[in-house]
Amino acid sequence: MPPPLKLLVFGQNGQLAKALSRLCQIQDITAQFIGSSTADLAANPQQAYELITQSSANVVINAAAYTQVDKAETDKAAAQALNHHAPKNMAQACKAQGKGLIHISTDYVFNGQAHAPYELGDATDPINIYGATKLQGELAVKDHGQGVSTCLRTSWVYDGLSPNFLNTMLRLAQNRSDITVVNDQIGRPTYAADLAKACLDIALGRHSGNDIKQIYHVTNSGTPISWADFARAIFKAAHISCRVKDIPSSGYPTPAKRPAYSVMDISDYEAQFGPLPTWQDGLIRALNERKI
Ligand SMILES: NC(=O)c1ccc[n+]([C@@H]2O[C@H](COP(=O)([O-])OP(=O)(O)OC[C@H]3O[C@@H](n4cnc5c(N)ncnc54)[C@H](OP(=O)(O)O)[C@@H]3O)[C@@H](O)[C@H]2O)c1
Repeated sequence: MPPPLKLLVFGQNGQLAKALSRLCQIQDITAQFIGSSTADLAANPQQAYELITQSSANVVINAAAYTQVDKAETDKAAAQALNHHAPKNMAQACKAQGKGLIHISTDYVFNGQAHAPYELGDATDPINIYGATKLQGELAVKDHGQGVSTCLRTSWVYDGLSPNFLNTMLRLAQNRSDITVVNDQIGRPTYAADLAKACLDIALGRHSGNDIKQIYHVTNSGTPISWADFARAIFKAAHISCRVKDIPSSGYPTPAKRPAYSVMDISDYEAQFGPLPTWQDGLIRALNERKI
């Protein structure tokens, strides 16, 4: 019998970090969370190595990232430090210490030109700085954390309470009767609590010595949708009568390009760990989280 699972989580106030914290409490899993106020990994990514070396945790989860996709275009050094150099240090430390590492990556490693869900081995080709730095992080984790690490790619992450698409839509709908939303980016939303559960499934699997892959795709399941479809689903589920007008991405220019198609094949994860909840189910739970 291995000793009980003990986690070190990078990230504290982020969407995934908070969901992990709640789940660890429910499942009685010991976990230490390290936020940016304790260790600024953009300023000093090497700190990750030292913190892991000093920790008695047996699995590390990296829920920290530079996630401001547009800002990354002009803040490349910070994005690279946090999304590439910090996970590289984590992988090196975990490998040296024989600890497991779960690193979170993104659909943005792909160029979005596919017409069928991206599979684990499909060619990567990021189209913005955020995606490029996240891909560098993935590759560093793969190279330096061989045998101990897993990258978990996800997409369109949201929860009930953080600043995100769900809460932006609900806020805007308070004083508007219609909202324009892009309809030519297609993906699958992921409720942070479901991503957190997947992280724990993989952490427990790694810790128990089960056969764990180097990469998984984890999103909510269900028919892929556009952001405009998601906005409509949010208003329907929240009983809000706000009209959604579809616009193309060209009508909402952003500093960073977005992939047009972000859907990933989640079947490898589901075959091993069971079905992922649908995005509709995740949305209901996210809305309920706002009422707690
Ligand atoms: N959000 C999405 O739509 C999305 C989509 C695909 C993939 N992902 C990936 O999923 C993972 C989790 O994303 P999320 O939505 O939970 O992100 P988030 O809510 O933006 O949280 C970012 C986390 O990174 C930490 N962080 C930021 N700057 C830092 C710094 N300088 N030093 C140390 N830590 C720092 C934050 O620390 P504090 O706790 O101190 O705030 C926070 O915990 C990330 O790897 C992200 O790339 C996200």
